[in-house]
Amino acid sequence: MKIVMLGTGYVGLVSGACFSDFGFDVTCLDKDKLKIKNLKNGVMPIFEPGLEDLVKKNFLSGRLKFSTDQRAHVKNADAVFIAVGTPTRRGDGHADLTYVYDAAKEIASYLNGYTVIVTKSTVPVGTSQKIKEIIKKNTNAEFDVVSNPEFLREGSAIEDFMRPNRVVVGHENKKSKTVLASIYKPLFLFETPILYTDLKSAELIKYASNAFLAVKISFINQMADLCEQLDTDINDIAKGMGLDKRIGNKFLHPGPGYGGSCFPKDTLALVQTSKQNDVNLSIVETVVRYNRDRKKSLARKIINLMGGDVTNKKISVLGLSFKPGTDDMRESPSLDLIPELLKKKAKITAFDPVAKNEAKKFLKKIKYAESIHECIKGSDCVVLLTEWSEFRSLSPEFLSGLMEGKYIFDFRNVLDPNVFKKSKFKLYQIGREKI
Ligand code: UDX
Repeated sequence: MKIVMLGTGYVGLVSGACFSDFGFDVTCLDKDKLKIKNLKNGVMPIFEPGLEDLVKKNFLSGRLKFSTDQRAHVKNADAVFIAVGTPTRRGDGHADLTYVYDAAKEIASYLNGYTVIVTKSTVPVGTSQKIKEIIKKNTNAEFDVVSNPEFLREGSAIEDFMRPNRVVVGHENKKSKTVLASIYKPLFLFETPILYTDLKSAELIKYASNAFLAVKISFINQMADLCEQLDTDINDIAKGMGLDKRIGNKFLHPGPGYGGSCFPKDTLALVQTSKQNDVNLSIVETVVRYNRDRKKSLARKIINLMGGDVTNKKISVLGLSFKPGTDDMRESPSLDLIPELLKKKAKITAFDPVAKNEAKKFLKKIKYAESIHECIKGSDCVVLLTEWSEFRSLSPEFLSGLMEGKYIFDFRNVLDPNVFKKSKFKLYQIGREKI
């Protein structure tokens, strides 16, 4: 089985590396020559735990190749996965499908013999059908289009790919279904459910799943807002809700608002789909708005607790990426919080175990520390914004030797409030008390 992965971003690179680890012959293609050159030299374009080792191992075995030459590889492929980006189109919230359609056109001109074209990128309902039409116009070769959305999370991408909760395959006939069944055969060992459905349903399952999770997070965040007013504890509320098996305890962790490359983009795109079809999707619309507002309001909480004025106050921010385990800064709460605090003339020092270089592209007027210690030294207020594991053991003993002030903002509720109770510090956590 020869697999071609078109687009070597997060999804393309992880999927390509994992398929090669399953034993298939995989070529990852990208137009970015530098990225391909770096990958051949073992330099990863992203930080993802375990990825570098997996890529190196399979590259050295010869099963995983990197190239910019579409023609040579597409013509020999049994399956070509489209894993290019589908960013939000500027201005209207629709998914920008330019890269997907360009890819389809190019693939068509190189097809030779029967090939299955697989949409791995997250694409709105109807896109796979359009891909099929584009390819049909540009080739006489035999082909089928399949929709196979990817559910991996950044930070646990390899584990998610290797042991997924489910695989979704939208297809139109037995021939293409058989090809996908062989590609995912290695997962039979773990008894992974494979859902075979039609093209449009597969596309919608991905959006519906991400939107549902975004709703769940926003629900618990709104409950946390309510808990602050009622003087009740969101951690107990979430625990009590999560014990109900119908609700489940996952994605009930309150925080500063969801970020990343998927939830913000996919919820917006789904709202656009609902509008185009004249269907009321007000739940998701509200979540999109609420999450944006939530991230924008983070600074206000800090300013209020610090007495209304943060001019020249030294605020230390721990964690910049949108979640731990990644250097991805897309839609990270830090991009809302820090500029707002800078506007109010606070002095910001930040530390992130891996996202410093990425963060520097977006956050210019702050100091970047090399360690927690350096970040916190002389600080008036510490803000824990991303729950990297090394931040979980912050204690009054450690902090009192370094900090000037007494304010600790734990926007991820990972610190133990009992430890801080008898100290000089004022620990604030989400949904646990009124500010
Ligand atoms: C998500 C989906 O989980 C994945 O299936 C899809 O393929 C891509 O989008 P990812 O963006 O990598 O994955 O991160 P995820 O772990 O889902 O977290 C998304 C955001 O929600 C983060 O900002 C995270 O901090 C936030 N979150 C998550 C919460 O605030 N509370 C929670 O309980 C869970």
